[in-house]
Amino acid sequence: MSEPDTKPNSRKVFIKTYGCQMNVYDSDRMADALAPHGYEPTTQMEQADLVVLNTCHIREKASEKVFSELGRLKVLRDERRAAGHEMRIGVAGCVAQAEGEEIIKRAPMVDMVFGPQAYHRLPQLLEASMKGQVIDTDFPEEDKFTHLPAARREVTLKRGLTAFLTVQEGCDKFCSFCVVPYTRGAEVSRPLAQVLEEARRLVDAGVKEITLLGQNVNAYHGLDAAGRSVGLAELCYRLAEIDGLERLRYTTSHPRDMDDALIEAHRDLSLLMPYLHLPVQSGSDRILKAMNRKHTRDEYLELIARIRSARPDLALSGDFIVGFPGETEDDFAQTLEIVREADYASAFSFKYSTRPGTPGAALENQVPEEVKVERLARLQSLLGERTSAFNASCVGRTLPVLIERKGRNPGQVGGRSPYLQAVHMDGDESLIGSIVPVDIIDVGKNSIVGKLSRDSEHNSGSLVDSHVA
Ligand code: 5AD
Ligand code: SF4
Repeated sequence: MSEPDTKPNSRKVFIKTYGCQMNVYDSDRMADALAPHGYEPTTQMEQADLVVLNTCHIREKASEKVFSELGRLKVLRDERRAAGHEMRIGVAGCVAQAEGEEIIKRAPMVDMVFGPQAYHRLPQLLEASMKGQVIDTDFPEEDKFTHLPAARREVTLKRGLTAFLTVQEGCDKFCSFCVVPYTRGAEVSRPLAQVLEEARRLVDAGVKEITLLGQNVNAYHGLDAAGRSVGLAELCYRLAEIDGLERLRYTTSHPRDMDDALIEAHRDLSLLMPYLHLPVQSGSDRILKAMNRKHTRDEYLELIARIRSARPDLALSGDFIVGFPGETEDDFAQTLEIVREADYASAFSFKYSTRPGTPGAALENQVPEEVKVERLARLQSLLGERTSAFNASCVGRTLPVLIERKGRNPGQVGGRSPYLQAVHMDGDESLIGSIVPVDIIDVGKNSIVGKLSRDSEHNSGSLVDSHVA
């Protein structure tokens, strides 16, 4: 099949991505949808004929941030117009989905507002916006993924050796603090064949590591050709058959969907990296119940123990919320406690932020801001200590590192360990694209430092099994 021509006098698009990895993936899909229509990505906003803000609604004053960015954009657009150029403006993502009408009302300079289910229609929306503002925040029947064009090979290559692949969207869990079930809708999984095809295409273009994405990725239940529902574990086994795919990760997971098959996959598949992002949010059963997390502290800890018995070197990551309504000092102390017990290698932590329309917003006993600030500081200091301890525990070990890029200085390269740590080392550019054994010799601030292991002289470029004995 011939590829659509890119017009020589091509136009430029600047896409600004806020929030999670799923938005990063979506921004690339928007760029892919626009490419056949002559739009090339630019990193210079002021040079863009089209600017898209791909927004996030998960926490804090998200929409205010969008409106203030729009204010700045208006100035840029007026300058471009004065110089005889156009600048069209689109707002996409979860703020668009949640507050589309409001954006249209408050920001007349916005040409298009469209939600995450409308990205495949972006070229048509752009066309329609020539006649006036357009808004598209429907959840259509059709599957956007079958309508989104694939990236050209060279575009994929340029994006790097690691790639995201969205396999599932939406969430049916309804945690009482979370806006996702409202903005992204009910859980939908992409069919197995579609995911495998996209993965093969990525690997053919040179991608070595794929991270499967979903708001609730381990609830994946795509259909196979026979109409049978396939879980995330089976998807991983099928992906492991792809020649040239060397590493696999997935995020984000809910503890309730961590089934036995997936735990076994962690034992059986060496390409499945020993790193798991499994948020617990709080260590207090009372708060977990109020959050509607549908599991207790002990159930979570037992689950972690089972996963670790399948994969002893697993590095655990998590998310935490402090200051959920009704959280007492004692509840918070239990969160600190679970951080120690579950032994996190890394974690993200947030102050509870009231999301309009969620059950949490209606709860009494909202925690004062200064208490949230103080608890967050204590939690982050503990989490920082744990991450440093985990990084330090890697010194003296030899880890397989995927070399991804040149380092800051000549003669240096950078990559990722199986545990998603950034690794810096001396090494030749020719190593880029290989997984090589690296002796970890030191820790940096947010990274670890290594040197090419002597083993690699016999082993250079080959895949090193990432299991530790
Ligand atoms: N307030 C604070 N943090 C939140 N998260 C989700 N909703 C909220 C909220 N209302 C956090 C959770 C989730 C992560 C993606 O964002 O920890 O796991
Ligand atoms: Fe939000 Fe909970 Fe669903 Fe995660 S599992 S997206 S926190 S509702």
